[in-house]
Amino acid sequence: TSNETIFEAVGGRPTFTRLVDVFYDHVDRDEVLIAMYPDGHELTGAKHRLQSFLEQYFGGPSTYQEERGHPRLRMRHFPFPIDFDARDRWLASMRAALDDVALPPLYDEIFWDYFQRAATAMVNTNSNP
Ligand code: HEM
Repeated sequence: TSNETIFEAVGGRPTFTRLVDVFYDHVDRDEVLIAMYPDGHELTGAKHRLQSFLEQYFGGPSTYQEERGHPRLRMRHFPFPIDFDARDRWLASMRAALDDVALPPLYDEIFWDYFQRAATAMVNTNSNP
């Protein structure tokens, strides 16, 4: 309906669980990305933080805010050296996850546009060859 949130329109929590699971399966196999994760291959906490953030961003429950406060994502990413190569790798993992959940084209485009902008905004170092 017209006052449904994007969170609801794309299927609610199960869609976000699947998106984040597939995304992290790919991150786990990307040697550049996985090296940045403080807990190595133990990704349960990272999955929970990304999933609750995305659910909130797209109009779902505000669990992220309750647990973590204001997102301040760029600031929270300063400890990690994110260059354009890392951004491209992050986006490739997310593209694979979006392909897996196969949202209707309108929603796929909304998510993909957002991820491209957000990932580019996270770039904080310029160490590309
Ligand atoms: C946290 C890497 C882009 C959302 C993290 C962490 C790493 C990381 C290493 C710490 C994992 C943890 O929470 O324990 C990257 C890289 C990116 C990127 C390499 C490449 C551009 C993004 C984008 C978003 C995002 C585009 C959102 C659309 C988050 C969130 C957290 C997080 C919500 C948890 C923040 C917190 O509450 O502490 N990221 N990230 N990241 N990232 Fe990213």
